[in-house]
Amino acid sequence: MKIEYAERVNRLPKYIFVAIEELKAKKKKEGIDFISLGIGDPDLTTPELIINELINQVKIPENQNYPASMGEEIFREGIVRWYKVRFGLDFNADREVTNVLGGKEGVANIARAFINPGDIVLCPNPGYPVYANGATKLCDGKPYLMPLTRENKFLPNLELIETKILKKAKMMYLNYPNNPTGAIAPIEYLKKAVDYAEDYNFIIIYDNPYSEFTFGDYIAPTLLQINPDHIEINSASKTFNMTGFRCGWAVGNQEIIEGLRKIKSQIDSGCPIFIQKAVIKGLNEYKSEKKPEIVDKNMKIYEKRRDVLVEGLNKIGWETDKPKATFYVWIQIPEGETNSMDFVKKLINVGVIITPGIGFGQYGEGFVRFALTQPIERIKEALERIDKVLN
Ligand SMILES: Cc1ncc(COP(=O)(O)O)c(C=O)c1O
Repeated sequence: MKIEYAERVNRLPKYIFVAIEELKAKKKKEGIDFISLGIGDPDLTTPELIINELINQVKIPENQNYPASMGEEIFREGIVRWYKVRFGLDFNADREVTNVLGGKEGVANIARAFINPGDIVLCPNPGYPVYANGATKLCDGKPYLMPLTRENKFLPNLELIETKILKKAKMMYLNYPNNPTGAIAPIEYLKKAVDYAEDYNFIIIYDNPYSEFTFGDYIAPTLLQINPDHIEINSASKTFNMTGFRCGWAVGNQEIIEGLRKIKSQIDSGCPIFIQKAVIKGLNEYKSEKKPEIVDKNMKIYEKRRDVLVEGLNKIGWETDKPKATFYVWIQIPEGETNSMDFVKKLINVGVIITPGIGFGQYGEGFVRFALTQPIERIKEALERIDKVLN
């Protein structure tokens, strides 16, 4: 029997991280101690308040049945409350909210509702790979890569996109606070993006999983504050260190939400009810736009780590700025290095794992990403090892 993949599957790029995993496995056999600053998966644990609620809720028989794929009413109402308290926005729980199985699922499946073969989707690059691959290419659409450059503060330069591309665009993904660059978007920029969307008639998917991952006084907005005709996708993954629980939500324009619900109702059976309820328990801790203690305490830990890493890198002559948000530090590869992958391999040899910029697309080349997912002592150890490689 000859097995042939569908064309759209063949169009998916090779997984760049396989090469890193292979090298890591080889080094592990040599007994090397790895400090992993690669994957954006929090090392901190889910707040006790949420864990206790999970344990209580899982015991209740009615929470053990099939969930509604759009999310339980209590979940959708909890999300509506959160947008009111956190962003001052009003949504309708029946029509303008849906549950997703983590932001990733929502970001990918939304394209199935709106992208026909050949349609253009505006995707930031470097960016979360799902926009171009899991979403656009798997719907036979065409990703148009919007470069995020340091010169433009890692915001897509909308003026540089040709009118004929804008006219054909059906959807745009935007993600601030941004993975991988750590950049944030000024309100004026979001207004401009919304104006473009109106002028050229495309929808914006505002991917906002790092909305609570902010430092100091900075409070991240949602694009929906500027115009609720688009949608935001967010999740409990980063806010509550719940990456393994797969619970998120999409909020905004009723017709867009309806499209996503329609797709999902044919595909999945929803996030377990006890998880939905525990997430709402966490979100109910918000009494204003300010982060509640269960979130703030973790952000203070990440902030200290960020300071140790960035100040340490600057000290060894590898200069970068402190990001205002996310738990990522995006930095140009040191002078004399030819590409991000080769440089990452050099660091693997000394047991430090970071992510090559090329893993986030062609415009990520020349950069690498650190994730602040190790305690301060390990970050210091990583800095010492990096110093030896560089100097
Ligand atoms: C930019 C961005 N969007 C979406 C996600 C999806 O997260 P989750 O599916 O865990 O909600 C991630 C996760 O790393 C991300 O970095």
